[in-house]
Amino acid sequence: MKESYKIALLPGDGTGPEVLREGCKVLDAAAARFDIKLEKVDYDLGGERYLRTGEVLPDSVLEELKEFDAIYLGAVGHVDVKPGILEKGLLLKLRFELDQYINLRPVKLYPSVECPLKNKGPKEIDYTVVRENSGGLYTGIGGLSRAGTRDEVAVQQMLYTYEQVERCLRYSFEYACKHGKKARGIGDKNTLALVGKSNVLTYMYELWNRVFAEIGAEYPDVHREYYHVDATCLYMVASPEMFDVVVTENMFGDIITDLAAITQGGLGIAAGGNINPEGVSMFEPIGGTAPMWTGRNAINPLAAIGAGAMMLSTLGAEQAGCAIEGAIAETTPKMKSQMANEMGFTTTEIGDMVAHAL
Ligand code: IPM
Ligand code: MN
Repeated sequence: MKESYKIALLPGDGTGPEVLREGCKVLDAAAARFDIKLEKVDYDLGGERYLRTGEVLPDSVLEELKEFDAIYLGAVGHVDVKPGILEKGLLLKLRFELDQYINLRPVKLYPSVECPLKNKGPKEIDYTVVRENSGGLYTGIGGLSRAGTRDEVAVQQMLYTYEQVERCLRYSFEYACKHGKKARGIGDKNTLALVGKSNVLTYMYELWNRVFAEIGAEYPDVHREYYHVDATCLYMVASPEMFDVVVTENMFGDIITDLAAITQGGLGIAAGGNINPEGVSMFEPIGGTAPMWTGRNAINPLAAIGAGAMMLSTLGAEQAGCAIEGAIAETTPKMKSQMANEMGFTTTEIGDMVAHAL
Protein backbone atom coordinates (compact mmCIF):
# COMPACT_ATOMS: atom_id res chain seq x y z
CA MET A 1 0.00 0.00 0.00
CA LYS A 2 1.25 3.44 -0.90
CA GLU A 3 2.07 5.62 2.10
CA SER A 4 -0.01 8.76 2.03
CA TYR A 5 0.26 11.90 4.17
CA LYS A 6 -1.81 15.05 4.45
CA ILE A 7 0.40 18.08 5.05
CA ALA A 8 -0.72 21.60 5.97
CA LEU A 9 1.60 24.26 4.54
CA LEU A 10 2.04 27.46 6.53
CA PRO A 11 4.55 29.50 4.53
CA GLY A 12 4.03 32.51 6.82
CA ASP A 13 5.99 35.72 6.45
CA GLY A 14 9.25 37.12 5.09
CA THR A 15 11.39 34.49 3.44
CA GLY A 16 9.11 31.73 4.78
CA PRO A 17 7.30 31.22 1.45
CA GLU A 18 10.59 31.11 -0.49
CA VAL A 19 12.18 28.44 1.67
CA LEU A 20 9.02 26.39 1.98
CA ARG A 21 8.64 26.36 -1.81
CA GLU A 22 12.07 24.69 -2.07
CA GLY A 23 11.21 22.36 0.79
CA CYS A 24 8.10 21.24 -1.09
CA LYS A 25 10.12 20.75 -4.27
CA VAL A 26 12.43 18.39 -2.39
CA LEU A 27 9.53 16.61 -0.65
CA ASP A 28 7.95 16.00 -4.03
CA ALA A 29 11.20 14.55 -5.37
CA ALA A 30 11.47 12.26 -2.34
CA ALA A 31 7.81 11.28 -2.64
CA ALA A 32 8.29 10.31 -6.27
CA ARG A 33 11.37 8.24 -5.50
CA PHE A 34 9.91 6.41 -2.52
CA ASP A 35 6.37 6.10 -3.83
CA ILE A 36 4.81 8.26 -1.14
CA LYS A 37 1.68 10.29 -1.73
CA LEU A 38 1.71 13.81 -0.27
CA GLU A 39 -1.45 15.86 -0.20
CA LYS A 40 -0.60 19.49 0.58
CA VAL A 41 -3.01 22.23 1.57
CA ASP A 42 -1.88 25.86 1.74
CA TYR A 43 -2.84 28.21 4.58
CA ASP A 44 -2.21 31.96 4.39
CA LEU A 45 -1.69 32.51 8.13
CA GLY A 46 0.79 35.22 9.06
CA GLY A 47 1.39 38.95 9.09
CA GLU A 48 -0.27 39.76 5.76
CA ARG A 49 -3.52 38.10 6.74
CA TYR A 50 -3.42 39.71 10.17
CA LEU A 51 -2.94 43.18 8.68
CA ARG A 52 -5.72 42.55 6.18
CA THR A 53 -8.31 40.92 8.44
CA GLY A 54 -7.13 41.17 12.05
CA GLU A 55 -7.07 37.37 12.28
CA VAL A 56 -4.02 35.52 13.58
CA LEU A 57 -5.27 31.96 14.02
CA PRO A 58 -9.04 31.59 13.72
CA ASP A 59 -10.54 28.72 15.75
CA SER A 60 -11.96 27.17 12.59
CA VAL A 61 -8.46 26.98 11.05
CA LEU A 62 -7.04 25.50 14.24
CA GLU A 63 -9.72 22.79 14.09
CA GLU A 64 -8.86 22.07 10.46
CA LEU A 65 -5.16 21.81 11.24
CA LYS A 66 -5.90 19.06 13.78
CA GLU A 67 -6.99 16.84 10.89
CA PHE A 68 -3.60 16.83 9.15
CA ASP A 69 -0.76 14.34 9.55
CA ALA A 70 1.74 17.19 9.96
CA ILE A 71 2.28 20.92 9.52
CA TYR A 72 5.15 22.37 7.51
CA LEU A 73 5.92 25.96 8.54
CA GLY A 74 8.06 28.63 6.86
CA ALA A 75 8.53 31.56 9.25
CA VAL A 76 6.44 33.78 11.48
CA GLY A 77 6.92 37.53 12.15
CA HIS A 78 6.19 40.69 10.17
CA VAL A 79 7.94 44.07 10.19
CA ASP A 80 4.61 45.93 10.39
CA VAL A 81 3.20 43.82 13.23
CA LYS A 82 4.15 44.49 16.84
CA PRO A 83 6.56 41.78 18.11
CA GLY A 84 4.74 39.10 20.07
CA ILE A 85 1.38 39.17 18.30
CA LEU A 86 2.24 36.61 15.63
CA GLU A 87 4.82 34.75 17.70
CA LYS A 88 2.40 34.22 20.57
CA GLY A 89 -0.82 34.14 18.58
CA LEU A 90 0.35 31.77 15.88
CA LEU A 91 3.60 29.91 16.53
CA LEU A 92 3.29 29.44 20.29
CA LYS A 93 -0.48 28.98 20.10
CA LEU A 94 -0.05 26.13 17.63
CA ARG A 95 2.62 24.53 19.81
CA PHE A 96 0.36 24.73 22.86
CA GLU A 97 -3.02 23.94 21.30
CA LEU A 98 -1.62 20.94 19.44
CA ASP A 99 0.31 19.97 22.57
CA GLN A 100 3.60 19.71 20.69
CA TYR A 101 5.47 19.18 23.89
CA ILE A 102 8.82 18.31 22.33
CA ASN A 103 10.97 20.63 20.27
CA LEU A 104 13.50 18.41 18.60
CA ARG A 105 16.57 20.25 17.35
CA PRO A 106 19.31 18.15 15.78
CA VAL A 107 22.74 19.78 15.75
CA LYS A 108 24.57 18.31 12.82
CA LEU A 109 27.42 19.86 10.90
CA TYR A 110 27.13 18.86 7.25
CA PRO A 111 30.25 18.24 5.13
CA SER A 112 32.25 21.36 4.14
CA VAL A 113 29.96 23.68 6.08
CA GLU A 114 31.95 26.46 7.68
CA CYS A 115 32.03 26.13 11.46
CA PRO A 116 33.14 28.96 13.74
CA LEU A 117 34.68 26.50 16.22
CA LYS A 118 38.38 25.81 15.96
CA ASN A 119 39.31 22.24 15.00
CA LYS A 120 35.74 20.95 15.03
CA GLY A 121 34.12 19.12 12.15
CA PRO A 122 31.13 16.91 11.35
CA LYS A 123 32.46 14.19 13.63
CA GLU A 124 32.47 16.49 16.66
CA ILE A 125 29.27 18.39 15.98
CA ASP A 126 26.64 15.69 15.90
CA TYR A 127 24.08 15.72 18.71
CA THR A 128 20.45 16.47 19.38
CA VAL A 129 18.76 18.89 21.74
CA VAL A 130 15.35 17.90 23.06
CA ARG A 131 13.77 21.15 24.19
CA GLU A 132 10.68 20.88 26.40
CA ASN A 133 8.14 22.86 24.40
CA SER A 134 5.02 23.33 26.50
CA GLY A 135 5.89 24.78 29.88
CA GLY A 136 8.39 26.75 31.91
CA LEU A 137 8.53 30.50 31.39
CA TYR A 138 6.52 30.04 28.20
CA THR A 139 3.44 29.17 30.26
CA GLY A 140 2.79 32.91 30.31
CA ILE A 141 1.82 33.28 33.96
CA GLY A 142 2.71 36.60 35.53
CA GLY A 143 1.85 40.23 35.58
CA LEU A 144 2.74 43.76 36.54
CA SER A 145 1.65 45.47 39.70
CA ARG A 146 1.94 49.13 40.76
CA ALA A 147 2.92 49.90 37.19
CA GLY A 148 4.58 53.24 36.64
CA THR A 149 5.78 53.65 40.24
CA ARG A 150 9.16 52.95 41.85
CA ASP A 151 7.48 49.98 43.53
CA GLU A 152 6.50 48.41 40.24
CA VAL A 153 6.76 44.61 40.31
CA ALA A 154 7.08 42.35 37.27
CA VAL A 155 6.49 38.62 37.75
CA GLN A 156 6.97 35.90 35.14
CA GLN A 157 6.69 32.43 36.52
CA MET A 158 8.54 29.29 35.53
CA LEU A 159 6.07 26.50 35.84
CA TYR A 160 6.35 22.74 35.37
CA THR A 161 4.02 19.95 36.33
CA TYR A 162 5.23 16.44 37.08
CA GLU A 163 3.33 15.27 34.03
CA GLN A 164 5.14 17.73 31.71
CA VAL A 165 8.54 16.76 33.07
CA GLU A 166 7.79 13.06 32.96
CA ARG A 167 6.56 12.96 29.35
CA CYS A 168 9.46 15.07 28.12
CA LEU A 169 12.07 12.92 29.86
CA ARG A 170 10.42 9.69 28.74
CA TYR A 171 10.49 10.90 25.14
CA SER A 172 14.17 11.82 25.58
CA PHE A 173 15.14 8.41 26.97
CA GLU A 174 13.28 6.69 24.13
CA TYR A 175 14.99 9.00 21.65
CA ALA A 176 18.41 8.30 23.15
CA CYS A 177 17.79 4.54 22.91
CA LYS A 178 16.83 4.75 19.24
CA HIS A 179 19.05 7.54 17.96
CA GLY A 180 21.88 7.88 20.48
CA LYS A 181 25.49 7.48 19.37
CA LYS A 182 25.63 3.76 20.22
CA ALA A 183 22.38 3.12 18.36
CA ARG A 184 23.88 4.88 15.34
CA GLY A 185 27.07 2.83 15.58
CA ILE A 186 29.35 5.78 16.26
CA GLY A 187 29.92 5.43 19.98
CA ASP A 188 30.03 2.87 22.75
CA LYS A 189 27.07 4.23 24.68
CA ASN A 190 23.87 6.20 24.32
CA THR A 191 23.99 9.25 26.58
CA LEU A 192 21.21 11.52 27.74
CA ALA A 193 22.35 14.74 29.42
CA LEU A 194 19.89 16.78 31.45
CA VAL A 195 20.72 20.48 31.29
CA GLY A 196 19.45 22.73 34.08
CA LYS A 197 20.45 25.08 36.84
CA SER A 198 20.06 23.01 39.98
CA ASN A 199 22.35 25.29 41.99
CA VAL A 200 19.91 28.21 41.72
CA LEU A 201 16.54 26.91 40.50
CA THR A 202 16.49 24.46 43.37
CA TYR A 203 12.76 23.63 43.35
CA MET A 204 12.66 23.18 39.61
CA TYR A 205 15.63 20.83 39.51
CA GLU A 206 14.57 18.91 42.58
CA LEU A 207 11.67 17.84 40.34
CA TRP A 208 13.56 17.43 37.05
CA ASN A 209 16.48 15.54 38.61
CA ARG A 210 14.24 13.25 40.63
CA VAL A 211 12.14 12.31 37.60
CA PHE A 212 15.32 11.98 35.50
CA ALA A 213 16.64 9.32 37.90
CA GLU A 214 13.22 7.71 38.25
CA ILE A 215 12.58 7.28 34.51
CA GLY A 216 16.26 6.63 33.86
CA ALA A 217 16.08 3.48 35.99
CA GLU A 218 13.81 2.04 33.28
CA TYR A 219 16.50 2.67 30.67
CA PRO A 220 19.67 0.96 31.87
CA ASP A 221 21.16 1.24 28.37
CA VAL A 222 21.12 5.02 28.48
CA HIS A 223 23.96 6.65 30.34
CA ARG A 224 22.79 9.71 32.33
CA GLU A 225 24.62 13.00 32.81
CA TYR A 226 23.67 16.36 34.27
CA TYR A 227 25.13 19.80 33.38
CA HIS A 228 24.31 23.34 34.40
CA VAL A 229 23.12 25.44 31.50
CA ASP A 230 25.91 28.01 31.74
CA ALA A 231 28.58 25.32 31.67
CA THR A 232 26.73 23.67 28.79
CA CYS A 233 27.25 26.80 26.67
CA LEU A 234 30.93 26.60 27.35
CA TYR A 235 31.11 22.89 26.47
CA MET A 236 29.03 23.37 23.31
CA VAL A 237 31.82 25.62 22.06
CA ALA A 238 34.88 23.94 23.57
CA SER A 239 33.97 20.24 23.32
CA PRO A 240 30.70 19.60 21.47
CA GLU A 241 31.76 16.01 20.87
CA MET A 242 30.86 15.19 24.48
CA PHE A 243 27.13 15.56 23.69
CA ASP A 244 24.80 12.91 22.34
CA VAL A 245 21.19 13.60 23.32
CA VAL A 246 20.61 16.66 25.50
CA VAL A 247 17.30 17.44 27.20
CA THR A 248 16.37 20.75 28.76
CA GLU A 249 13.48 22.98 29.75
CA ASN A 250 11.84 25.41 27.35
CA MET A 251 13.73 28.71 27.79
CA PHE A 252 17.15 27.15 28.28
CA GLY A 253 16.42 25.09 25.17
CA ASP A 254 15.50 28.19 23.21
CA ILE A 255 18.77 29.86 24.11
CA ILE A 256 21.20 26.96 23.74
CA THR A 257 19.77 25.92 20.37
CA ASP A 258 20.62 29.30 18.85
CA LEU A 259 24.17 28.79 20.06
CA ALA A 260 24.06 25.24 18.70
CA ALA A 261 22.73 26.53 15.37
CA ILE A 262 25.72 28.75 14.72
CA THR A 263 28.07 25.83 15.39
CA GLN A 264 26.35 23.89 12.60
CA GLY A 265 26.53 26.69 10.04
CA GLY A 266 23.83 29.06 11.24
CA LEU A 267 20.11 29.56 10.94
CA GLY A 268 20.24 28.86 7.22
CA ILE A 269 20.75 25.23 8.03
CA ALA A 270 19.21 24.52 11.47
CA ALA A 271 15.90 22.65 11.41
CA GLY A 272 13.48 21.74 14.14
CA GLY A 273 10.36 19.75 14.83
CA ASN A 274 7.59 20.65 17.28
CA ILE A 275 6.46 17.19 18.13
CA ASN A 276 3.37 15.70 19.67
CA PRO A 277 4.21 11.99 19.56
CA GLU A 278 0.53 11.15 19.79
CA GLY A 279 -0.82 13.97 17.61
CA VAL A 280 -0.06 16.53 14.92
CA SER A 281 3.56 17.72 14.73
CA MET A 282 4.92 20.84 13.06
CA PHE A 283 8.28 21.20 11.33
CA GLU A 284 10.14 24.44 10.71
CA PRO A 285 13.48 26.02 9.91
CA ILE A 286 14.48 27.54 13.26
CA GLY A 287 15.59 30.84 11.74
CA GLY A 288 13.19 33.75 11.38
CA THR A 289 11.67 35.70 8.53
CA ALA A 290 14.91 37.45 7.39
CA PRO A 291 13.09 40.60 6.17
CA MET A 292 16.25 41.91 4.58
CA TRP A 293 16.39 39.02 2.13
CA THR A 294 12.69 38.67 1.43
CA GLY A 295 11.79 38.24 -2.24
CA ARG A 296 15.41 38.18 -3.40
CA ASN A 297 15.84 34.45 -3.99
CA ALA A 298 18.98 34.71 -1.84
CA ILE A 299 18.00 32.92 1.38
CA ASN A 300 19.32 29.46 2.26
CA PRO A 301 16.50 26.90 2.00
CA LEU A 302 18.46 24.02 3.57
CA ALA A 303 16.96 24.52 7.04
CA ALA A 304 13.46 24.24 5.59
CA ILE A 305 14.53 21.26 3.49
CA GLY A 306 16.03 19.62 6.58
CA ALA A 307 12.78 20.26 8.44
CA GLY A 308 10.96 18.47 5.62
CA ALA A 309 13.31 15.50 6.06
CA MET A 310 12.52 15.42 9.79
CA MET A 311 8.84 15.55 8.98
CA LEU A 312 9.00 12.49 6.73
CA SER A 313 11.13 10.57 9.24
CA THR A 314 8.77 11.42 12.09
CA LEU A 315 5.74 10.40 10.03
CA GLY A 316 7.35 7.01 9.49
CA ALA A 317 8.90 7.49 6.04
CA GLU A 318 12.39 7.18 7.48
CA GLN A 319 14.06 6.05 4.28
CA ALA A 320 12.83 9.14 2.46
CA GLY A 321 13.86 11.40 5.35
CA CYS A 322 17.36 9.90 5.39
CA ALA A 323 17.62 10.23 1.62
CA ILE A 324 16.90 13.95 1.85
CA GLU A 325 19.57 14.31 4.52
CA GLY A 326 21.96 12.49 2.20
CA ALA A 327 21.04 14.86 -0.62
CA ILE A 328 21.71 17.86 1.64
CA ALA A 329 25.12 16.36 2.47
CA GLU A 330 25.85 16.13 -1.28
CA THR A 331 24.84 19.75 -1.78
CA THR A 332 26.67 21.56 1.03
CA PRO A 333 30.19 20.90 -0.39
CA LYS A 334 29.15 22.67 -3.62
CA MET A 335 28.07 25.83 -1.80
CA LYS A 336 30.39 28.77 -1.06
CA SER A 337 28.68 29.60 2.23
CA GLN A 338 25.51 28.92 4.19
CA MET A 339 24.81 32.64 4.59
CA ALA A 340 22.06 34.36 2.62
CA ASN A 341 23.31 35.90 -0.63
CA GLU A 342 26.73 34.27 -0.24
CA MET A 343 25.86 30.73 -1.20
CA GLY A 344 27.13 30.98 -4.78
CA PHE A 345 23.63 29.90 -5.84
CA THR A 346 20.09 31.21 -5.58
CA THR A 347 17.45 29.79 -3.26
CA THR A 348 15.82 28.08 -6.24
CA GLU A 349 19.10 26.58 -7.43
CA ILE A 350 19.84 25.06 -4.01
CA GLY A 351 16.37 23.47 -4.01
CA ASP A 352 17.03 22.11 -7.50
CA MET A 353 20.41 20.70 -6.46
CA VAL A 354 18.96 18.82 -3.48
CA ALA A 355 16.00 17.56 -5.51
CA HIS A 356 18.40 16.46 -8.25
CA ALA A 357 20.66 14.63 -5.78
CA LEU A 358 17.63 12.60 -4.77
C1 IPM B 1 12.13 29.60 18.46
C2 IPM B 1 11.74 31.06 18.54
C3 IPM B 1 10.44 31.19 19.30
C4 IPM B 1 10.65 30.67 20.72
C5 IPM B 1 9.89 32.62 19.32
C6 IPM B 1 9.73 33.19 17.93
C7 IPM B 1 8.59 32.71 20.07
O1 IPM B 1 12.77 31.81 19.11
O2 IPM B 1 11.36 28.81 17.88
O3 IPM B 1 13.19 29.24 18.96
O4 IPM B 1 11.05 31.41 21.60
O5 IPM B 1 10.40 29.49 20.92
MN1 MN C 1 14.57 30.66 19.53
